[in-house]
Amino acid sequence: TVVEQAKPLRKAFTPVAISTGDAVVVPEGYVAEVLYRWGDPLTNSTAHGWRGDASEGWAEQENQAGDNHDGMSYFPLVANADGASESGLLVMNHEYVNYEYFYSPGNDAADWLAPWTADKAKKAMAGHGVSIIEVRRARDGAMSYVPGSQYNRRITGYTPMEITGPAAGAESLKTADDPTGTRVLGTLNDCANGKTPWGTYLACEENFNGYFGSTDPAYVRTALERRYGVNTSSSYRWHEVDERFDISKNPNEPNRFGWIVEIDPFNPASTPKKRTALGRFKHENAEVVIARDGRVVVYMGDDQANDYIYKFVSDGKYDPRNQATNRDLLDSGTLYVAKFDNGDATGDFKGVGEWVPMVHGMGPLTAANGFASQADVLVDTRGAADLLGATKMDRPEWIAANPKTAGEVFCALTNNSGRTVTDDANPRMANRYGQIVRWNEAGGDATALSFDWDLFLVAGNPIAYSDRQDLRSGSAVITAENTFNSPDGIAFDHDGRLWIQTDGNFSNVNDYQGQGNNQMLVADLKTGELQRFLLGPSGCEVTGLAFTPDMRTMFVNIQHPGEIGSHPNRPKKADGSTYGDNDIARDPLAFSKWPEASGGRPRSATVVVRRADGRKLLG
Ligand code: FEO
Ligand code: CA
Ligand code: CA
Ligand code: CA
Repeated sequence: TVVEQAKPLRKAFTPVAISTGDAVVVPEGYVAEVLYRWGDPLTNSTAHGWRGDASEGWAEQENQAGDNHDGMSYFPLVANADGASESGLLVMNHEYVNYEYFYSPGNDAADWLAPWTADKAKKAMAGHGVSIIEVRRARDGAMSYVPGSQYNRRITGYTPMEITGPAAGAESLKTADDPTGTRVLGTLNDCANGKTPWGTYLACEENFNGYFGSTDPAYVRTALERRYGVNTSSSYRWHEVDERFDISKNPNEPNRFGWIVEIDPFNPASTPKKRTALGRFKHENAEVVIARDGRVVVYMGDDQANDYIYKFVSDGKYDPRNQATNRDLLDSGTLYVAKFDNGDATGDFKGVGEWVPMVHGMGPLTAANGFASQADVLVDTRGAADLLGATKMDRPEWIAANPKTAGEVFCALTNNSGRTVTDDANPRMANRYGQIVRWNEAGGDATALSFDWDLFLVAGNPIAYSDRQDLRSGSAVITAENTFNSPDGIAFDHDGRLWIQTDGNFSNVNDYQGQGNNQMLVADLKTGELQRFLLGPSGCEVTGLAFTPDMRTMFVNIQHPGEIGSHPNRPKKADGSTYGDNDIARDPLAFSKWPEASGGRPRSATVVVRRADGRKLLG
């Protein structure tokens, strides 16, 4: 085979202009094809086919693609170089569900969810979790998934899982249904992901707090619940019909979420494992690096305004010759939290940092401060990091380690409207646009305890803010042609280019003028280029990214097209009133018809992007 070399970006493709339309836009010479939509069947049974009106119940939904596709990895089914890109397992998260599209409108004109039942809540749980699907490449390069494949599997909000690591069996993880504190049903709000070199997938539980509520109006929240945002009300309404999600009845159930879940996609009968050694917070992704000495390093962000960046270093070493011995490497090791200090000078957007160990008995992590064991440190990772004086960041999203430069790591800090004091790493008070911070571990060693850091880029809008001294205009690499806001998904491809996906404001007005819909860009670290590659349809977020080893196929997830609920400019009806969720449920094609109007409603979906001429993506 001829090895096709990567080109400078300007020679590889013509950047795309913004779009505010209802389509996926890619550069000339590329095609974008829909692979796997919410509701697509995993089996060959006609009972599991998409109906189009969302009238399916949980029994159908658990055999169909879940909703809100997010982080994603590709696992080759055959190891040899010629076959590795031809067939594989595509594994992805289904972060949450959009109720306004998820249920068929009922007969109550005022409330499309009425009557609210345990079966409807269970359908929502079935729409969460993970998909494992077999994908195959055709001779023309197109990809399709294989309904009925022996590998196809849905993991849902009620799939039995094991809790492992130092917090397994802790008092705070025990419930009436599980007095052992080691068995839990389901994974929820899996946002981004990770992939290990021993062939497993990591699903990362993010905003798990939103699924819990209290039927007792007098319930008083604990400090732990407040720190994690567990509340007495929940718009998912599961607690109304399922006591497991009622904190007044099952106060420990939320402690069993907020973890990283390791899944063996090659064994459909395997039990997913919640790895408590990696800490409990609103996980974004889990970037896995094998350090020079063979220890496993996992970088993780906690996506909340003013929360932290973490890394885990395993005790054991990865052995590529004996994969069976790697299976439980994520159960023992040290968790660290990051401090980003300004360094010698302030205002230069760079400095020095350190990784502070989160070990029971060390420093302030003692019983006197509420941490009686390592399990306590892990269940309340946030509280422990608060005591250790970690640096409050502008919402840490994905972390990506450069495969070409040992020890160089990037984290997307998406935005922050709640900052009260700035520092060099988080230099704007009302941070609408976000930034990407980069650190270099001391000696290029991923296990190092100190690092240098700088801001790789500061996103901004030079159209809205033409004075380039104004930080809102962004750093020098940001131009009128590539401006964007809210970097979220970031990942390196096999050629060492950094891809950036956005989940931000798509109003295209005022501070966001000229930025269009959510999008994907690519940066070349060698040339300093940054070009826009893809835009998503109306209301979507672009997230989730995987490549075949030959770099001819890219998988991208389009999440929640038509999601207008949180939009600042929620559209008005003809009578001047604002569209409510009930209106959207009854008129589901009002804001997006993507991927096709015949689907009956907008649907999150995996898209395959490839070059029409069959060559490498950026070759
Ligand atoms: Fe689910 Fe932080 O994004
Ligand atoms: Ca500095
Ligand atoms: Ca995200
Ligand atoms: Ca999302």
